[in-house]
Amino acid sequence: MSKTFYIETFGCQMNAHDSEKVIGTLERQGYARVQDEVDAGLILYNTCSIRDKAEQKVFHRLNEYKKMQGEGKRFAVIGCVAQQEGEKIFEKAPYVSLVAGSASYRNLPEMLARLEAGETRITGLDDRQTDETFETEFTARSNPHRGYITIIEGCDKFCAYCVVPYTRGKERSRTAASVLVEARRMADEGFTEIQFLGQNVNSYRDPSGRLSFAELLVAVGEIDGVRRVRFTTSHPRDFTKDIVEAIDATPTLCDHIHLPVQSGSSAVLKAMAREYTRDWYLERMSWIHGAKRDISITSDMIVGFPGETDADFEETITLLGQVKYDAVFAFKFSPRPNTPAITMADSIPDAVKTERLKILMDRQREIQREHYGRHLGQIQECMVESHNAVRGQVVGRSSQNKTVNFVMPRDVSLGAVLPPIGSYLPVRITKTLPNCLVGEALEAEPGVAEEMFFVPAERKNQFVVLQ
Ligand code: 5AD
Ligand code: SF4
Repeated sequence: MSKTFYIETFGCQMNAHDSEKVIGTLERQGYARVQDEVDAGLILYNTCSIRDKAEQKVFHRLNEYKKMQGEGKRFAVIGCVAQQEGEKIFEKAPYVSLVAGSASYRNLPEMLARLEAGETRITGLDDRQTDETFETEFTARSNPHRGYITIIEGCDKFCAYCVVPYTRGKERSRTAASVLVEARRMADEGFTEIQFLGQNVNSYRDPSGRLSFAELLVAVGEIDGVRRVRFTTSHPRDFTKDIVEAIDATPTLCDHIHLPVQSGSSAVLKAMAREYTRDWYLERMSWIHGAKRDISITSDMIVGFPGETDADFEETITLLGQVKYDAVFAFKFSPRPNTPAITMADSIPDAVKTERLKILMDRQREIQREHYGRHLGQIQECMVESHNAVRGQVVGRSSQNKTVNFVMPRDVSLGAVLPPIGSYLPVRITKTLPNCLVGEALEAEPGVAEEMFFVPAERKNQFVVLQ
């Protein structure tokens, strides 16, 4: 087997970040990453099992890999479907040599050594799933400006529809001291945005008892060089008022909270085992709405959970109007293996789920069309993500996590100047659409450019001048 690898990643940010850990580990073990599976000695498939017949899709994809066997290639299935299906994967796809769930990635060097020695049935399936793989020292973060830090793994909530507690195991938090060391190191390397990751990030409990979740957010926000701190994904049950207070008091904490509600009906929430009611959730919303800063709220919703009546669904629709979310990720309920919801009575026909999903998305789009209007004329700081040199357009992200498409001020003698990726610019919002903002960067006045245009030192010479 040649020491080259190709990796394909599906699923959430947790999985994307896991791949960064796996890539870093492989590179440390002397493997080189290739961009085409044809050139790879080892093909890794990092899988997600959250919805939609994920297992079938994985086996379908593995079938395509099958055609490539016999060229000295080895195959590894990792991530949530690997943890869920376990050794069954070897039975269905005998050409796979390694099956590993996320809780075992720190044993990867040892598993790779066995693979290189010719073993063909290697598993990393920790039943207890209590291992901590928070970060390896060689995590290969794909973006040099903003990076993830896992602060808590697993989930103990057991919502009736969700496969995560079975694929990612019990909740385990990383010490605040270790998170701070990692964040400081990232800041020293030039990262300006740090995003805390966890399936239930705000269930975080510092094992050393030193800092609460909100205090840890503030501590990272105060690190020299850190300009933005985000966190995802939160559970309403563990959402405390001090998180809102911390955001209000600390400008580096982004003014955005993703707080999935799943349904607006207390009856459905009960069936989902979410452990809160509509009113209880709305009380958390009132804390956020009452903040001094305009904190953007986004959510996940599930339509067509077993037993969801038209009246229940209507409550989800009225909740949209009451909260005024800036974005909603809505899904049709999908029965998952091992979860209580798979055997629940009163399943909802797919056509009804489809119709409800459409009604929800149409209503949400109307809300966003109107609600984004509040940004018209505002000046928003944007982190530059990409630009199109031909059209002179820049794509940035606001603290609220909104996409902002903007142009640079035109200097007649210079043409347009495009800022380096990863820099921060003040942008005046001139138009709002349901899913993004449009604007124009402010003119930099001589002498004040340094404060207005935050450009990390090592990228100061990277302005692109368009004639
Ligand atoms: N069916 C549909 N959506 C689901 N989600 C999680 N499990 C399921 C399921 N079985 C959604 C939830 C969660 C998001 C990540 O995916 O809305 O917040
Ligand atoms: Fe998918 Fe959940 Fe696993 Fe993320 S944790 S990859 S969403 S199943």
